[in-house]
Amino acid sequence: MGLKGRDVVSILDLTRGELEALFETADKFDRRGRARYRLLEDKVLALAFFEPSTRTRLSFETAMKRLGGETIGFAGAEATSVAKGESLTDTIRMLDSYADAIVLRHRYEGAAKLAAEVAENPVINGGDGRQHHPTQSMIDLYTIRRLFGTIDGLNIALAGDLRYARTAASLALALTLFRPRHLYLVSPPQLTMRPEVLRVLDEAGVRYSVHGSLDDVVEELDVIYVTRIQKERFPDPMEYEKVRGSYRITLDLLKKGRKGLKVLHPLPKVDEIELAVDHSEYAAYFQQAAWGVPVRMALLTHIFGVEV
Ligand code: NCD
Repeated sequence: MGLKGRDVVSILDLTRGELEALFETADKFDRRGRARYRLLEDKVLALAFFEPSTRTRLSFETAMKRLGGETIGFAGAEATSVAKGESLTDTIRMLDSYADAIVLRHRYEGAAKLAAEVAENPVINGGDGRQHHPTQSMIDLYTIRRLFGTIDGLNIALAGDLRYARTAASLALALTLFRPRHLYLVSPPQLTMRPEVLRVLDEAGVRYSVHGSLDDVVEELDVIYVTRIQKERFPDPMEYEKVRGSYRITLDLLKKGRKGLKVLHPLPKVDEIELAVDHSEYAAYFQQAAWGVPVRMALLTHIFGVEV
């Protein structure tokens, strides 16, 4: 069917085949390094970021520029008419009339779905509340595939704040499209994966287990996907204080693991990974962030239906 003209609200809007086609295109872009293209020179991408972002916004912008396209947009609603009380739907309607596709990040779950209903042009979810972050999951899957040559058959741990981190929820959903050998869900008891995500894992027949500490499982793992405690999503600051600093990935822990063990993280990281890990053979997160550009270039060409 192809992705041309489609919205991407959840990673489950794509099939495994569509993701694999995307990864092949990303491989092509990555092989050609920092080449510039004129593939999207008639296109404008709107970047509507109501929540903070570094990588997602700037890598979409880089991707669009390398493809010869233009971007418009804002980071933070303070500078827009939202500060005057304009509704999300009115803002989206306007952007839809200026641009050929919209990337939206918003603190409210369902914001991207609503925007996709309002806009004629494709809407790409750049993160909505604690729910979805499909383009991050594309990068996560691509990174695993590049590092291991496969996603199937691996032992993957999702670790940290599994309750509020949309990247963890979204990657869990994404893995239902593949055949990981086993999924280890590792978090403090207050931050376990939400039931609606577990239900999707159950329905897809993904084998998983729930753990309180990586110490118990590190020897089994190929990949540890770590997330930051999402302080800003806690309804009660006291609840955050109870879990603050409750887990930390150290070099000593990783040394207990298998050879070839890799640590991924969507970034930003705060204090959940010991600094010494950054320069070790375990750290894949900076490479993962760099692959955000070819993956998003691939996504944009597929959505605009352009041959690479
Ligand atoms: C994440 C997000 O916004 O969900 N950042 C990203 O896009 N790489 C992760 C986070 O904020 O912890």
